[in-house]
Amino acid sequence: MFKFSRRGFLAAGTVAAAGGFIPNVYPVRAATPLKLGLVLPYSSVYATLGEEITRGLEVALAEEGDAVAGRSVELIRQDTEVNPKTAIQGANRLVKQEGVDFLVGPVSSAVAAAIRNVAHNGRTHLIVANAGHDGLSRDLCSPFIYRTSFSNWQVSAPMGDWMYKQGIRRVMLAASNYAGGTLMLKHFSERFKAAGGEIAGEVLPDLKEIQYAPFLEQIRSSGAEAVFCFFAGNAAVEFVKQYSQFGLQGQIPLYGCGFLTTSDVRPAQGEASEGVRTTLHYAETLENQQNVAFRQAFEDRYGSTPSLYAVQGYDSGRAIVEALKVTDGNTDDKNALSRALDGVVLDSPRGRMSFSPNHDPVQDVYVLEVKNGQNVVIDTAAKGLATPTDGCSL
Ligand code: PHB
Repeated sequence: MFKFSRRGFLAAGTVAAAGGFIPNVYPVRAATPLKLGLVLPYSSVYATLGEEITRGLEVALAEEGDAVAGRSVELIRQDTEVNPKTAIQGANRLVKQEGVDFLVGPVSSAVAAAIRNVAHNGRTHLIVANAGHDGLSRDLCSPFIYRTSFSNWQVSAPMGDWMYKQGIRRVMLAASNYAGGTLMLKHFSERFKAAGGEIAGEVLPDLKEIQYAPFLEQIRSSGAEAVFCFFAGNAAVEFVKQYSQFGLQGQIPLYGCGFLTTSDVRPAQGEASEGVRTTLHYAETLENQQNVAFRQAFEDRYGSTPSLYAVQGYDSGRAIVEALKVTDGNTDDKNALSRALDGVVLDSPRGRMSFSPNHDPVQDVYVLEVKNGQNVVIDTAAKGLATPTDGCSL
């Protein structure tokens, strides 16, 4: 009934032969599927992000023959939309009724903050596959929460320094109005102002806004030399397109967190994304062996090219796989599982990645520019960047 990977089956046999007895723990556990509860948006403004994370995760599991340390895998999808209340109910259902071994997700920072206690109090490991909410690796950190994506600080603060170094002194800010957006702007501003820069003002359209004209008008009249912004998913498509239609492209250079021009949104943005510069922990054009292999495996399976979000889903799967190899598939001993995750080092498509003491990825952050439809690495903003542990002691 359940799938056994060849590796898991052999491992059980080896232990039995070496020890001279047949352990009853491993085979029983092996028969219990590994349940992964996906707390992701499958509808609303971030729907494609949730789907890409799921696909990336599936590629990682397929590489293992769809079995982890001898346990077949069951994926249970829970649509969070971008709604913290919906997400809390869904995450509770996954933990309390489904008894999942891991939660994987979410995308939105507001949702991440909302479900933090479901994971923490429920002693269920949450692998954060996108949401950058800084609290999760600071005052809200938990022995059970690990992040394979980024903290908001990692993808926004470095741009504060970098833009200042380019000679830019006065910047207008723009972001979707919720925790994800406002945190990105806060971290950018702190660093940009510390370097000596000045903030001209900020606009905060609703997360589900589709008509940016009034905000673009404020940007035009701000007198700023450049814009730094955070938009992702459909919001990124619309903001970048309308920025260009409004005649601002090339007039007031557009900078942002890399989600602004990821490969899932660029086709719909077309020419409007040309010249946009961003900071991000991944570039499709990285030539390392893991990136080339992952992109091929993803394309073979889905017939499309993977985005950053697929990479994060893939690495979430890889982190789970590597940790379970160490615990021999045991997910009941939560402290042992955390210790195993602590030791995970991935050769990710993004480059080398490990976990910092506050469970965030330690990773390089690149500066990207869209040139002829490609996101090209033009600089490295930070190497081996770890999120500060302020407020977190684990
Ligand atoms: C966030 O809310 O933290 C967030 C959402 C979408 C992104 C990146 C960050 O693409």
